[in-house]
Amino acid sequence: MKIVIVGPGAMGCLFAAFLSLSKEEIWLLDKTKDRAELINQQGIIIEGISENWQAKVKASADKIKIGKADLIIICVKSFDTKEALENAKTLLKENTTILTLQNGLGNVEILGELAGQERVIAGSTNEGATLLAAGRIRHAGRGQTIIGRMDGKIPVEMRFLREIFNKVGLEARISRDIKSLLWSKLIINTGINALSAITRLKNGKLIEFEWTRRILREVVTEAVKIAKRKRIKLIYDDPLAKVEAVSEATAGNISSMLQDVLRKKRTEIDFINGAIVRLGQELGIPVPNNSLLVDLVKTIEASYSLTVASMESC
Ligand code: PAF
Repeated sequence: MKIVIVGPGAMGCLFAAFLSLSKEEIWLLDKTKDRAELINQQGIIIEGISENWQAKVKASADKIKIGKADLIIICVKSFDTKEALENAKTLLKENTTILTLQNGLGNVEILGELAGQERVIAGSTNEGATLLAAGRIRHAGRGQTIIGRMDGKIPVEMRFLREIFNKVGLEARISRDIKSLLWSKLIINTGINALSAITRLKNGKLIEFEWTRRILREVVTEAVKIAKRKRIKLIYDDPLAKVEAVSEATAGNISSMLQDVLRKKRTEIDFINGAIVRLGQELGIPVPNNSLLVDLVKTIEASYSLTVASMESC
């Protein structure tokens, strides 16, 4: 089976590295030729909780060289989903399956529109990784990867995929209600990501300060109101307790959005708190705290080159 991982970010590298332990043919598709070449030569270097190791992975920016894929795993940022699949279209054959492991809402729909909904498998992972440099990551946390189709069907390829993940040490299971899982992850991301990006705090600190904890609770409460109105059943009973528990369990993590801000990159705010704001407007439910976080993160993104570095430059 040929598996192509699209996007050499933290998650893309983590999955490519672990999947390279399988018997399958693994490729990493990178849009940058030089970085693909570097990864090809040095492999993917991993440190952190899975010890220090190096995975040999074939990487390329040349789709012709990679050829047709049986499975494509999309690991790019949500705002790049459309472009990434359009760019990878030559890898598709009639029965290619596409798995998204991205944060936020809307990716499954974008991929479905481009390639047909029946090919798309949605996924949510609790693995944690930080990109240290090109092809170099820290495996920051272990967690389950849950996959499923929006229509609840479980095709044979999905069982096969679960088996491969489990064999290489990426704990995986299948869910018939992936929508509720995507929303359950979204609620966690709405509470943690933007707030950590704005305050530049690691996940655990957000619940240690009474002020950030209060904001986190307000943001999550608003998002849960939207989920309820949309009749989404979350996989946990107490969302506030769950988000706080995740902050604690991932205390040392630099959230993916904070990683983006520290690297002065575009964030996934539009697909996380931004999705809550859009749905709030549609449904007539006020979500002022989510709206405020969106505006602040957008200000941070727009002002990367303007912020003062020290008091002298004032
Ligand atoms: O986006 C992230 O960083 C992660 O989904 C989470 C769960 C917030 C942990 O850092």
